[in-house]
Amino acid sequence: MKRPQKSEPAAAVQGSTPERIELHGVTHLFGTTKRSAPALVGVDLSIESGEFVCLVGPSGCGKTTLLKLIAGFFEPTLGKVLVNGELVERAGADRGMVFQQPTLFPWLTVRGNIEIGPRMNGISREQLRALSDRYLELVGLADVADQRPYELSGGMQQRCAIARALANDPAIVLMDEPFGALDALTRERLQQELKEIWRATGKSIVFVTHSVEEAVFLGSRVVVLSPHPGRIVYDEPVLLPALNGSGGDARLLPEFTALRAHIGSMIGVA
Ligand SMILES: Nc1ncnc2c1ncn2[C@@H]1O[C@H](COP(=O)(O)OP(=O)(O)OP(=O)(O)O)[C@@H](O)[C@H]1O
Ligand SMILES: [Mg+2]
Repeated sequence: MKRPQKSEPAAAVQGSTPERIELHGVTHLFGTTKRSAPALVGVDLSIESGEFVCLVGPSGCGKTTLLKLIAGFFEPTLGKVLVNGELVERAGADRGMVFQQPTLFPWLTVRGNIEIGPRMNGISREQLRALSDRYLELVGLADVADQRPYELSGGMQQRCAIARALANDPAIVLMDEPFGALDALTRERLQQELKEIWRATGKSIVFVTHSVEEAVFLGSRVVVLSPHPGRIVYDEPVLLPALNGSGGDARLLPEFTALRAHIGSMIGVA
């Protein structure tokens, strides 16, 4: 496996300070019985501030486990996870996670869910309102701002979860198949928006997806895990010719198609 060249960094930094993520020799085993197989084996991964890393691999290969280790929900059985040189021992506001299944606070409205993080940071009522308006608009939920999660479709709940994570302005955004339940149009719109947010803010994003096309379109770097137990089998920057603001679609480039096919063949989907 070649060491990746540094992938295209995001343009500018706004709000939170970006941070570096490192995994050194990470192996994770769930349970303690002799029969339990590790979920991840010997993962070494170093993510620079401002990278957009897309993580792909077959079901059960440990993608969610890897995100949760970075999030600090548990510690690895072997090896270590560092953020900005500090050992990750617990969850923190510098790392925002969008879960595979949306997990919203059922007693809060859509707006309330989006506002909960910033509210705890003590910002003014006007700022809070402006912030939630912005994110409601971004994910297309302005019309249902006062509804509760149980009144929303699965895709709407997921959009609310995305808005809640981004509204907190974490330096690191961990996204676990966030667009999996969305219709094609909404998915494409949010992909575009997320790319723009990344370019504008310099956030480090680790994005899990089953879609190789999505990974190549969004990522500044693509990491592929082997089938269970997960090991890194591919780790390369996405280097596509610049479209120079022409408004063109990178997905139509022959280089895009070639890279998608190459990665797809590795995980048996091309
Ligand atoms: N809490 C847990 N307890 C025991 N085993 C677990 C737990 N969480 C995950 N596993 C196991 O670890 C392995 C990796 O699971 P993980 O959820 O990370 O996979 P994944 O790549 O995210 O899969 P998918 O694409 O289906 O979401 C699987 O074999 C799974 O059964
Ligand atoms: Mg998963």
